[in-house]
Amino acid sequence: MDRRMRVAEALLLVVILIYCPVSAFVAGADGPVTFHEALENGNTTFFCDATPDTSDDELMLLVWYKDNESIYSYDARVRSEWSNIAFNVSGRVIADMDKNPTSLTISALREDDQAFYHCRVEFLLSPTRNTGVNFTVTVLPSEPFFLDELGNTVTNKTRPYYEGDTLVLSCLVIGGRPPPKISWYSGETLVDATYSVSDIPNVWQNELYLPLTRDNTETLSCRASNTRLVPALEASLQIELYLPANQVKIQWVQGTLDGALRSGETVTAQCEAYGSHPPPDITWRLNNKRLKKHSNQTWDNSLQAAISFIQITPTMADNQATLTCEAVNPIMPSERNSKADVINLNVTFGPKVEIMKLDDEKRNEVVELDPLHLKCDVKANPPADKYMWYFNDMKIKPGGMWGDDISTNELFIDEVSRRHAGQYACAASNTIGETRADPISIIVLYPPECKKPGITLDKETLNCNVKGLPVPDTYFWHIQQIDHDIQHLTTGSSSLSLDHVAGPLSENLNVSCEAENGIASQYKSCTKIISLGHLRPPQPQQCDLAFEYKEFQIRCIPVENATHYELSLWRLSKTNTSLVLDRKKSVEVGNSLALTQNGDEPWLVRGALGLLNTGDEAGAAACNRYGCSGALLLRPTENLLSAAASPWWKFLTEKDAVICIGVVLLVIMFACSTVLAIRLARRSRKKAQVPVIQVLQLDDVTRDYLNRTGGNFIYPRASVVQSKIEQQ
Ligand SMILES: *[C@@H]1O[C@H](CO)[C@@H](O)[C@H](O)[C@H]1NC(C)=O
Ligand SMILES: *[C@@H]1O[C@H](CO)[C@@H](O)[C@H](O)[C@H]1NC(C)=O
Ligand SMILES: *[C@@H]1O[C@H](CO)[C@@H](O)[C@H](O)[C@H]1NC(C)=O
Ligand SMILES: *[C@@H]1O[C@H](CO)[C@@H](O)[C@H](O)[C@H]1NC(C)=O
Ligand SMILES: *[C@@H]1O[C@H](CO)[C@@H](O)[C@H](O)[C@H]1NC(C)=O
Ligand SMILES: *[C@@H]1O[C@H](CO)[C@@H](O)[C@H](O)[C@H]1NC(C)=O
Ligand SMILES: *[C@@H]1O[C@H](CO)[C@@H](O)[C@H](O)[C@H]1NC(C)=O
Ligand SMILES: *[C@@H]1O[C@H](CO)[C@@H](O)[C@H](O)[C@H]1NC(C)=O
Ligand SMILES: *[C@@H]1O[C@H](CO)[C@@H](O)[C@H](O)[C@H]1NC(C)=O
Ligand SMILES: *[C@@H]1O[C@H](CO)[C@@H](O)[C@H](O)[C@H]1NC(C)=O
Repeated sequence: MDRRMRVAEALLLVVILIYCPVSAFVAGADGPVTFHEALENGNTTFFCDATPDTSDDELMLLVWYKDNESIYSYDARVRSEWSNIAFNVSGRVIADMDKNPTSLTISALREDDQAFYHCRVEFLLSPTRNTGVNFTVTVLPSEPFFLDELGNTVTNKTRPYYEGDTLVLSCLVIGGRPPPKISWYSGETLVDATYSVSDIPNVWQNELYLPLTRDNTETLSCRASNTRLVPALEASLQIELYLPANQVKIQWVQGTLDGALRSGETVTAQCEAYGSHPPPDITWRLNNKRLKKHSNQTWDNSLQAAISFIQITPTMADNQATLTCEAVNPIMPSERNSKADVINLNVTFGPKVEIMKLDDEKRNEVVELDPLHLKCDVKANPPADKYMWYFNDMKIKPGGMWGDDISTNELFIDEVSRRHAGQYACAASNTIGETRADPISIIVLYPPECKKPGITLDKETLNCNVKGLPVPDTYFWHIQQIDHDIQHLTTGSSSLSLDHVAGPLSENLNVSCEAENGIASQYKSCTKIISLGHLRPPQPQQCDLAFEYKEFQIRCIPVENATHYELSLWRLSKTNTSLVLDRKKSVEVGNSLALTQNGDEPWLVRGALGLLNTGDEAGAAACNRYGCSGALLLRPTENLLSAAASPWWKFLTEKDAVICIGVVLLVIMFACSTVLAIRLARRSRKKAQVPVIQVLQLDDVTRDYLNRTGGNFIYPRASVVQSKIEQQ
């Protein structure tokens, strides 16, 4: 049954085809033409209006042709359809005749589906209706790919280039219909659309020549397109462009005060290096000296910059030093691959002050009346704006001995006086602080000048009292004695021993001296009349008179410093009660006659006087080169005088007792020898013969006389003197 049906249909179709031999379509003449495009492997739907023009009319037959070949037909009267088996491969053709307009959908489109299609509709009454479809099947090309100038494929990334190089790269696609357009884009910017056919069939390419600068390092993309139905096929590449840093920037990020650095305080600087690819190596230098302790460099992706930090603690010496941050691209050749930023450090610090003496060879000495020029040497940042001077720790105020201009860094004194000697310091201040220099001592030199009490005599040494700086080293002496020529002496010290003075010293000396210290000669010499009287020895105090060896002897215990003694004998005038100088003699000490030692007794000065009478007096004075002391005067006692009187046997010889003489002489001789033996024995046994000490009873006349002649009298008391002698 079915089979019969089908046979019937086939027969019908044959009838139709026979009835409808016209299958060619002439565009415009036969009917309207639409354009249609679809992708290979895609699907498309053709539409064909099968509605009759009038309601009494009716559809009879609808046929689709590919070019002049029918591919589908529909017989409305029996509602049967037919498809060309060669075309309806895998059942890819689906028709919907109930739709308005009717549709014919073709899937799995092939390249050879591109053709001119038309639909022919037969009505019962109306004339045949034709509708044309100019159908294009678009074949997409392959994905784009890249070849470099050597024909190597390039993926993801180009080989490295340097700035200024020309990038040569081909973008290729295989196949595609219609031929695709190939365009190069840098980022979103079209840079090349000059595509062309390649040597290889069915391959399309676009070769790009792109001079590389740091401004076109964006992603390169190649777009291939031959239809508007789908977006262009696109492949992209990163350009590997080695670039040195093009901007390096140092800035302080921590520790500065109003942008200034402070000596000794730590600051942090940051260096940003832009534009380097790959990231640079950042190095820091201070005055060309490499700094090691910087932070590990980081890469800031948002800034596209390498960042490094460094901490420095600048000192005074670093003021105006250059801080350099250099970014070096490590993989580029060393020429022109670095970029640096340099800043000068402005290190502020309080003043460093030193005081200096100008314009003289000697560091801290100045001669009186010369100028003194001191300078305050200041190092400070910012520069010092105020100076102060100190003298012996006191701030110098203008005026007086300092002049009015004392607020600069120089102190100038026109004529130095001794008051200017002392310690000088200066201080300077700036906005950071104030500093005072270590003081220097200024010594004012001046010529010698006489100082009170001028010339002094200390024991037997003359001293010239002068002051002067430096201390004088040469002294000139002028010594004049009465009636003598002036003596000129030179000494290396301020003292002059009288031993060096020639001539008599018993009179006053007119002495003058002046000193020299190399600065200038003494303006006025020191002068003084020096009296030497007190250098004479003291008056002998312990003397006695003795009658020995048939004459009177004066004996004295020596006094200190006496070089000789002067003995004198005064006789009572026969006519009046005056004492008259009878003789005077000098006894040298050291002369053995003058000094005798008697057993344990001390040395005595002894002088023979001859015979003395009642009222006569003997004197002893001690002397040295400065003159003699006053004389000590002694008067013989009655005992002594009588002991010295003529012996009684002398009377006998005068009055003729010749017979008795021999006997008496023998008796006397015996007695005398006995006495002598006893005396000698006593003398050797006992200490001393008790001297007869005199108490002086001078009359007024003698005293006046002696006063006039300059004698110095002492009235010893016998008991005192005697006891002293006994003690010895
Ligand atoms: C035709 O193609 C579209 C998209 O290309 C798809 O959604 C649809 O299912 C296809 N139709 C057929 C019948 O294959
Ligand atoms: C139909 O097409 C075939 C092949 O393309 C051709 O040989 C033939 O002459 C055509 N006929 C008409 C009527 O155009
Ligand atoms: C194409 O062929 C399939 C099965 O081969 C069929 O089901 C379908 O109806 C055919 N298309 C038309 C329009 O006849
Ligand atoms: C279809 O269109 C193409 C261009 O779009 C044209 O070259 C061709 O001649 C057309 N075919 C017909 C049969 O009109
Ligand atoms: C290219 O990039 C893709 C995706 O990013 C990656 O899977 C592939 O390995 C890369 N090829 C090369 C040669 O780097
Ligand atoms: C250094 O910094 C100080 C303080 O900010 C400023 O007064 C001075 O002028 C600066 N010096 C220089 C050379 O820039
Ligand atoms: C810097 O890096 C080195 C080695 O890469 C590491 O030893 C050191 O601790 C790092 N320093 C800082 C401050 O991160
Ligand atoms: C001391 O000597 C100086 C000269 O050397 C002389 O000018 C002066 O008058 C003398 N003085 C006396 C008191 O003789
Ligand atoms: C004796 O001379 C010395 C030295 O000049 C002196 O120190 C001493 O005081 C003198 N003695 C007397 C008693 O003057
Ligand atoms: C005392 O006599 C002496 C001579 O013996 C004589 O030189 C002297 O002037 C007399 N003095 C008086 C005061 O008469």
